[in-house]
Order: sequence, then structure tokens, then C-alpha cells
Amino acid sequence: MVSIVVGGHYGDEGKGKIISYLALNDKPELIARAGVGPNAGHTVYKDGKKYGLRMIPCGFVNEKSKLAVGTGVLVDVERFLSEVSDTQTKGRIFVDKRCGVIEQAHKDLDKGEGSKKIGTTGSGCGPANAARVNRTLRRAMDFPELKDYLADVPQMVNEAVDSGGNVLVEASQGFGLSLYYGNYPYVTSKDTSASSAAADVGLGPTKIDDVIAVFKAYMSRVGEDPFVHYLTDAEVGKNKVWSRLLKAAEDSGVQGETANQKIAFYLGEKGTVTGRPRKLADFDYKLARYSAMVNSATTICVTCLDKLYPESSGVRNLKELGSEAAGHIRKIEKEVGVKVKLISTGPNPEDLIDLR
Ligand code: GTP
Ligand code: IMP
Ligand code: MG
Repeated sequence: MVSIVVGGHYGDEGKGKIISYLALNDKPELIARAGVGPNAGHTVYKDGKKYGLRMIPCGFVNEKSKLAVGTGVLVDVERFLSEVSDTQTKGRIFVDKRCGVIEQAHKDLDKGEGSKKIGTTGSGCGPANAARVNRTLRRAMDFPELKDYLADVPQMVNEAVDSGGNVLVEASQGFGLSLYYGNYPYVTSKDTSASSAAADVGLGPTKIDDVIAVFKAYMSRVGEDPFVHYLTDAEVGKNKVWSRLLKAAEDSGVQGETANQKIAFYLGEKGTVTGRPRKLADFDYKLARYSAMVNSATTICVTCLDKLYPESSGVRNLKELGSEAAGHIRKIEKEVGVKVKLISTGPNPEDLIDLR
């Protein structure tokens, strides 16, 4: 059984949290990281400790699962080794020998004017992928520091699937950031859909059973993007849910120039990699529907419901959801046309309604 978790909107949907739940609950034999590279920042909690992971699969929370970084994923060697040490995963984590490696020159280039215009994460991913296309990028097998971790990840993944084990594939970023489908040129350096995630770890289309598209109950975006309609002060004022959050934000004393920024800081919406405040927007149903189509989503997961409706915090049973929160879930399901089977009501793995 192979499940792929993808970002449905603009990244930071809370994939880290969902993956940690699936890793503990579905007990995958192998968890493989797909996606672009260390531009991603996933937030995961394990034994009360918070991890901001950029290289290691979030599924590391299940200590029995083997972990792998797929062939298509860019590796930042220093970052990888420091996360291995932080998560104590040496011995069960592997990197495909053909992964492209980001070097200092790529990071320097990613701090230049072109990158600033797009608002990249500065992690060197774009320039490294450009070098890969030019066939000048060095690969994991060229770095002695990685020799204890090198493996043939597609071989591992396919052997696990063929022997009947569960395999969980973690994509990163989100559909709206795809090099092909996103708001070009305000996009990342690769496609971010489920098919690319499968290819990243060496799986073909006929091997995939489930595609879980993750959406936040609202939208957030880091980086530049004139095509996203961010909430204005007036729109916040006209909407009951956002007005309530603005009041709570102001009462808590957070700083911010606009209602959007105040609510973002209040909700903890700032970039894991860059620390930039995320810009907030209403749920984009049309984009979500298109994203579910291109991803062939079988399941929708909605996260951060408790941030919009605080009374749903920690709820684990559908019947205990308040009517506003339940109405929001029903509307997403209807507009997107795919069943919402996972609803996240808090940052910890156990804060979840699982309807699968
Ligand atoms: P990307 O790869 O960048 O897309 O990362 P991501 O999708 O894993 O999301 P990220 O961890 O960057 O941001 C999500 C934030 O929301 C983190 O701080 C999570 O701890 C938190 N979070 C996730 N789900 C929930 C939820 O249901 N409720 C609350 N309150 N927080 C959540
Ligand atoms: P890059 O991937 O660093 O080149 O950045 C390109 C665009 O994608 C910028 O708008 C980034 O903010 C955005 N981006 C890249 N990775 C993530 C992510 O993990 N979460 C949210 N936005 C991201
Ligand atoms: Mg993130």
C-alpha cells in the first residue's frame, strides 16, 4: 500500500503534522521524502520537542520505520548531517546515491536579485536544479561525508511495496508553487504534484494507492506572489471568523502593520525556513479543485481547523465539531469534490479526526 502526501495549496499546509500522524498510525515499513529539497520546512513534534525539518522525512517519529531521501530530492550535506544527529536516525536513514547536492555557490546565487524578485527561500535549490539541467551538479556519491548513508532508494522502495509493506511518500511545497502549474514565475524550481513525488522516489503511476492532498482551513503564502488575493483590512472587518481572530490578536498584544499581519503573527504563521510572516488569504476553492484533479487526490486532509474555530482545538470525533467548523469542512468537500477524511485540530499527532 503506497500513500503520497502532497501540499494542495501553497506549501506549509501542515504536511509535517499529518505525516507524523500517518507514520505513527499506519506504521509504514518505509517513509521516503520526495519534493524539491531543503527549501521545505516541516514542523513536527516528538515527545514534546519541536523539530523544524528540511531534509529528514517527518515520519522519523515512528522509530520502527526505515527512512529514505528520494533520488529527485536535492541534498544540503551539512543540513542533512545535523538533522540526522538531532533526530538520532543514523542507521535507519538512507540517501539515494544519485541525489543532487547543493553547494555554497548555489546558495550564494540564490541570494541574488533574480531570487529576491521571486522571494525564494535562499536555500540554493533553484540554482542547484539549474546546474542539474546543465549536467554540472555533483551528486551524493561524490561526497565522502555521505558514504554511510548511500543507497539505491528506488530499489528499497519497490522491494518494500512488492513485499506487501506500507510505504509513505512525503512530498513538499504545494500545488500553487509548482514550476508547471503554479503562478509562474513566482514558483519553485520543480513540479510539486503527486506524480513528480512518485518519480522522485522511483515509483511508477501504477503503484500508487492513495494520494492525500493537504489543505489548510485557510490559505497562507510566503514569498512574492501578486496573483494571490491576500485579505485586506476591509475584508477582515466584513468577515465574522477573521474579525474574531483580529480581536483576539489585538487583545494578545501582537505587533503588525495590517490586520493580515497581526492575525498571521497571532496564529504563528511565519516561515519555518525564512522566519518571514506568511500572508493570509481565504480558502481558494477553484485552485483546490484543480489541484485535486492534477494530483488525482483520493483523500483531502484539512489542517488548522482549530486556528479558525478555537473551540475545535484537540477534537478527535466529528460529532464534537461545532456547527461553523463542520460547515466549513462540508463546503470544502462539496466545492473540491473529494472526501475530506482527515481533519487536523491541533499541532500534535493525536489532535486529529480520522474518517478513513
Ligand atoms: P511545507 O513543506 O513547507 O509545506 O511544510 P508543512 O506543510 O509541513 O507545514 P509547516 O510545518 O511549515 O507549517 C504548519 C504549521 O502549522 C506548523 O507550525 C505546525 O505545527 C502547525 N500545524 C499543523 N497542523 C495544525 C493544526 O491542525 N492545528 C494547529 N493549531 N497547528 C497545526
Ligand atoms: P525556492 O523554492 O526557494 O526557489 O522558492 C520559490 C518560491 O517557492 C518562493 O515563493 C518560496 O517562498 C516558495 N517556497 C519554496 N518552498 C516552500 C515551502 O516549503 N513552503 C512555502 N513556500 C515555499
Ligand atoms: Mg513549511
